[in-house]
Amino acid sequence: MTGFSADWLGLREPADTAARPPDLIDWIAPSLPRDRSVHVLDLATGTGSNLRYLAPRLGGLQQWVLADHDPVLLGAMPERLSTWAAANDVAVGTAGKSLTLQNAGLSCRVDRLQVDLARDLGTIDFTRFDLVSTAALLDLVSDVWLEDLGRRCVESGCSILFALSYDGRIDCTPVDPLDARIRDLVNDHQRTEKGFGPALGPDAATRTVRLLERLGYEVRAEHSDWRIDAAQSALQTELITGWASAAAEVALDERASIEAWLQRRLAWVRDGQSRLVVGHVDVAGRVR
Ligand SMILES: C[S@@+](CC[C@H](N)C(=O)[O-])C[C@H]1O[C@@H](n2cnc3c(N)ncnc32)[C@H](O)[C@@H]1O
Repeated sequence: MTGFSADWLGLREPADTAARPPDLIDWIAPSLPRDRSVHVLDLATGTGSNLRYLAPRLGGLQQWVLADHDPVLLGAMPERLSTWAAANDVAVGTAGKSLTLQNAGLSCRVDRLQVDLARDLGTIDFTRFDLVSTAALLDLVSDVWLEDLGRRCVESGCSILFALSYDGRIDCTPVDPLDARIRDLVNDHQRTEKGFGPALGPDAATRTVRLLERLGYEVRAEHSDWRIDAAQSALQTELITGWASAAAEVALDERASIEAWLQRRLAWVRDGQSRLVVGHVDVAGRVR
């Protein structure tokens, strides 16, 4: 569960975009500088979907550092960005090793940083950044790592926008008698090590809110649930298959019933009857 493919991240990006609450950006924006470029650090950027979501909504002058340990995902970022830019009337250019994004409302420089965030968070100079952001990372990290991140952010006066932490809720339609059991097993699996120590899994957003409040942030959290309809069958198939294999990993003796559940749910996806809601939370923090 620690490897993420560019295809999977591409499949989830439209669901992520639809799920995120735009008013958190309006809430965080006044805490960012207006007289110069806003410097943004995106942790665990993948192919840069958080940049594609946030940059046009923040607007103005921006400089981003996209950090991830996976060179394949970082390598896929320019092409993903170009495809997105072409569809959104944004001009892409280069300036040395940086990429640039430009349109009437946005002028943005983008750099990539390959770094193992579990091991080398301390090599990043947080004082360079106004906003530290991430999407779909915090459920993978441990309490200790999250605390370290929070401290670095507050000591450097960074605003925070941590999006799309899975919160343990999975609602499937039509309902199957085994859904609740599978969800519980998935949540057990979520708490296993993902490279950062014992993972927070479904507790990530609650822990983040508590931590940021303790560190003195003004905090706001909102749901960013995926609402996946029957037309999104490829995303549904990936999710349901992933849940079944995660459940089987933590309950080996239940493999037969998990496989039967998987086949029932996939049949509903194929028949166009299946809908899923997956609970997520976005957390924003402003330095008081
Ligand atoms: C669920 S994906 C989210 C990617 C991206 N933020 C998005 O929303 O599409 C988790 C990301 O965490 C990255 N990641 C996992 N462990 C990491 C580590 N130790 N250091 C840096 N990045 C890591 C993965 O490479 C992957 O890009």
